[in-house]
Amino acid sequence: MSRILVKATITAISGLGIMLLGGCEPGHKQTSQNGYRGAGLNQIVDARHVVPAAVIPPEAYALPPDGGPLAGQSYQNLKVLGGISKDRFDHLMANINQWVAPPAAGCTYCHNPANMASDEKYTKVVARQMLLMTQTINSQWSPHVKQTGVTCYTCHRGNAVPVNKWANAVGAPNPDSITGNRYGQNAPNADVGYASLPSNGFAEYLNGAKNIRLAADTALPSKDHVVSVKDAEKTYGLMVHLSTALGVNCTYCHNTQSFRAWNLSRPQRATAWYGIRMVRDINQHHIGILQSVFPDYRKGPLGDPYKVNCTTCHQGQAKPLGGVSMIAQAPALKGPTPAAPTVVAVPAAPSAPLALNDAPALLARK
Ligand code: HEC
Ligand code: HEC
Ligand code: HEC
Ligand code: HEC
Repeated sequence: MSRILVKATITAISGLGIMLLGGCEPGHKQTSQNGYRGAGLNQIVDARHVVPAAVIPPEAYALPPDGGPLAGQSYQNLKVLGGISKDRFDHLMANINQWVAPPAAGCTYCHNPANMASDEKYTKVVARQMLLMTQTINSQWSPHVKQTGVTCYTCHRGNAVPVNKWANAVGAPNPDSITGNRYGQNAPNADVGYASLPSNGFAEYLNGAKNIRLAADTALPSKDHVVSVKDAEKTYGLMVHLSTALGVNCTYCHNTQSFRAWNLSRPQRATAWYGIRMVRDINQHHIGILQSVFPDYRKGPLGDPYKVNCTTCHQGQAKPLGGVSMIAQAPALKGPTPAAPTVVAVPAAPSAPLALNDAPALLARK
């Protein structure tokens, strides 16, 4: 009897040992070297956290050849896309329908089917601004998005409202707490990878233009360079967001020998620098101005519309959608589309039949 017990105990202990060892099993971790040996530029990736390949939805139908009548001549109320062909305009509407509108609503998510030209639905007004925004991203921010570019799908992924977004928040500090105002610190928050760093920094860095670079130019402190520990912590909080958004660690961009030095950093850091400026442009000049257009239920607790951060596009990948470009499906989103030629106003027909000598007067009237 007791021998059976001993055997069982031994089996249990060895089982536990195998389980414990299993936990240490290094098989999931993959490392790769990005820079010179010894420079500390290594990527350590846990295979279990790698974001699976992107699902690109099938196109509504193949892109029609360019040509034929212009959309601006066929339709009544085009403020952005009037200069592209009608066929390509219809194709883009079908794509936008799949990329943004909930399937049950379809075209009616933005349109009154009885009057397609009407701007009565706020979603259409928002979508028009988003068209301009996407064109700006692709034409003005190519130092970031390169030739890959973005479409509505990069952010929306089939949802009316992108999954990853942020708005101003009241912040985590609890004035009633005996530990006092923590300035958003030690508040478990995904924005900073659940680190004890201050969260809620998006407003300052990705909508405002707060200085991210804190290291001084001089060895000794100077009155021109006043930086608090809090500022440094906030910068770190932002850097944790950059890393988690892209699914990388700090050395994807920095050389740990000097986080500050650009000449030691990888080129990806410069791409990220442009990305920060691009996100500010998106939030300030395209989404922020829609404050009065969005209904309250589409705004954050402080009444501002939801804005973009690195995760909105990247979603855990170093290049959104794994680097797959969808821009060929929607060439009109590449950049400013030429304005539709203004239709020449036809002079009103004279009410009485013209006598021959009236002609010069009519010409002068134009
Ligand atoms: C996410 C919003 C959205 C969805 C969904 C959408 N549209 Fe549009 N649609 C727009 C916007 C914005 C414009 C105006 C573009 C401009 O100003 O250049 C427009 C304009 C139009 C016009 C021109 C109307 C006129 O006379 O001015 C037609 C036609 C049209 N859409 C058809 C469709 C069809 C068909 C569908 C469904 C397959 C659809 N749209 C889905 C946003 C949308
Ligand atoms: C850079 C990311 C990004 C891109 C690209 C983008 N959007 Fe958006 N869009 C957003 C965000 C963020 C919101 C949410 C704003 C809110 O709810 O306060 C939004 C909201 C919308 C809404 C409002 C939906 C609702 O139910 O309130 C429409 C419509 C829309 N976008 C259309 C488009 C179209 C069409 C395109 C492509 C031409 C596009 N978007 C491209 C980020 C993006
Ligand atoms: C995707 C690229 C990227 C990743 C990943 C990244 N950083 Fe940064 N980092 C930048 C950029 C770009 C700047 C400069 C921002 C600016 O000037 O606007 C910067 C600035 C900094 C600075 C300020 C340097 C100075 O001049 O004062 C520190 C410190 C820093 N990062 C630390 C980190 C740490 C720690 C991590 C990992 C948790 C990290 N970074 C991850 C791109 C990145
Ligand atoms: C509007 C969508 C969008 C947003 C928002 C965005 N990016 Fe990107 N980013 C892209 C696209 C598209 C590429 C791919 C460009 C290419 O093909 O090289 C990219 C590429 C990058 C790369 C280069 C990766 C590599 O391996 O070469 C870095 C680094 C990067 N982004 C950092 C950021 C950071 C940091 C933010 C937030 C401040 C950000 N991005 C926000 C669209 C976006």
